[in-house]
Amino acid sequence: MIEFVVTSDGSKTLYHAEIGEHYHSRHGAVQESKHVFLSMGLRHFLESQHPDAVSILEVGFGTGLNFLLSADYCRLNGVALDYTGVEAFPLSATVISQTGYDAYVSQGLWASFLSRYTDSLRTVQQIHDTCQLEVAQCEALQFSTVKLFDVLYFDAFAAIRQPAMWTEETLRHVCTFLKPGGIFVTYAITGHLKRCMKGLGFTIEKVQGAPGKREMLRAIKTS
Ligand SMILES: C[S@@+](CC[C@H](N)C(=O)[O-])C[C@H]1O[C@@H](n2cnc3c(N)ncnc32)[C@H](O)[C@@H]1O
Repeated sequence: MIEFVVTSDGSKTLYHAEIGEHYHSRHGAVQESKHVFLSMGLRHFLESQHPDAVSILEVGFGTGLNFLLSADYCRLNGVALDYTGVEAFPLSATVISQTGYDAYVSQGLWASFLSRYTDSLRTVQQIHDTCQLEVAQCEALQFSTVKLFDVLYFDAFAAIRQPAMWTEETLRHVCTFLKPGGIFVTYAITGHLKRCMKGLGFTIEKVQGAPGKREMLRAIKTS
């Protein structure tokens, strides 16, 4: 069973009763997404590379909050966005429509996302003229594409709840889709994760975590 919970910044998240875990931090869903994925991932990439286009792979697409905030940021900054989500258990458009995330992005983006989300589970959707979205409905280990990405948002449930998502095998697999120089970000940081990422040829950075977490991991693919 999945139910809505209001987090400390007033934004909603979902609680997955079988997994025993929330989709976002209870200290603030939008706050966490903005800090971990937008600031430490996307903005860091854009500010260091100054590209006019960016491609993002997200493992654990869920409600689409990270997509919405990233797409809005790219639109406001004139950057084209090619976004691919990977999601084993897609939420319905009805559940997504009840998240209240329309309060945090432009109305045009929200309306376009909601109307195209279900089709994005089958084919690439043009959300607006410089933004496209595709959500691969599969397990992370089964995901495959010919594309390579600039930024990888790793947003799996916590290792204690879903250890299979944090194994060397899963990390190695998803990281094959990242370009050399590409950025991997996640909200967590553990000794196991750091060792895996170093072993996969990444330079790791321990950076400030979202409220409620002291640190998080950013890793740059160097080989
Ligand atoms: C922490 S939540 C992600 C929250 C999401 N990024 C959002 O903003 O709503 C983890 C997500 O991983 C998905 N998931 C669980 N097992 C998976 C697997 N093996 N492969 C891909 N996704 C998986 C869950 O269904 C859930 O949507």
